[in-house]
Amino acid sequence: MDFRQRDIISIKDFSKEEIVSILEYAKRMVPYAKGQKQTTHLDQKILATLFFEPSTRTRLSFESAMHRLGGRVIGFSDPSGTSQKKGESLADTIRMADAYSDAIVIRHPQEGAARLAAEFSDVPVLNAGDGAGQHPTQCLLDLFTILTEKKKIQGNNVVLLGDLKYGRTVHSLAYALSLFKANLTFVSPETLKMPKEVFAECKQFGVEPASTTNLEKAIKDADVLYATRIQKERFPDAEEYNRVVGSYKVDLPLLQQAKEDLIIMHPLPRVVEIDPQVDATRHARYFIQAFNGVPVRMALLSLILGGKKL
Ligand code: NCD
Repeated sequence: MDFRQRDIISIKDFSKEEIVSILEYAKRMVPYAKGQKQTTHLDQKILATLFFEPSTRTRLSFESAMHRLGGRVIGFSDPSGTSQKKGESLADTIRMADAYSDAIVIRHPQEGAARLAAEFSDVPVLNAGDGAGQHPTQCLLDLFTILTEKKKIQGNNVVLLGDLKYGRTVHSLAYALSLFKANLTFVSPETLKMPKEVFAECKQFGVEPASTTNLEKAIKDADVLYATRIQKERFPDAEEYNRVVGSYKVDLPLLQQAKEDLIIMHPLPRVVEIDPQVDATRHARYFIQAFNGVPVRMALLSLILGGKKL
């Protein structure tokens, strides 16, 4: 198993064994991610973070991961301060980042942008979200969170809730959870259902996801509830967004129906879909999940750039 110099574009590019190996390695990274242990593992390596869309967790946790490994970071969080503004093509911007760094992290509103970037770059490209497409590193930290909180992935009843049409995190996660043979229930407003292709991907692993608009019913058997934000920025029509916003909410009355050991996850940012009162319950895991981005991204960067394990 060799991850050196590999592009990370889609979770589908990994075998199950490779995912397990990354998650195991990520566990070893936790004390480094917390600053309890130090390393110069990626000393002299430079990571470029190119964010063409807003980000808090993904960008900062990639940067934190690189710094914790002793590496350095260059990049931008807003393309309006770059030559994109002057009309430069994505291909040329990528060629420049390739010349100035040892690996590139890219987030872009267009599906397929990371794959395209990889074609113009000799250094490895990591997809930090391409439109409504894929978000592979988020998927790995989601799996890591389920594994550490639930001790296993297989056999858990996982409810994916919210904008399943435009949400890239759930597209990656539905595939990966099927690979690990979790039981899936998709809960969304009628107009934001999981795309047919994702159902087909789950079925190839023998998983038949249930699909409903009824959260009250779905929550009863859930071991994991993965809530998502409605992806306002991807709606072609504002009217359509207004019709669905606020159509589901995770709050204390809903949780009275839930199992004692239900865990609630969310890739964040949340807007209205999780009541802040839920934060103090035994169910909330979304802030731990966000921290887990650091050890998981450290593991990936170490495997891709480090040559040997820490
Ligand atoms: C998600 C994203 O960008 O896809 N955020 C993240 O990376 N943690 C989810 C979202 O924006 O709703």
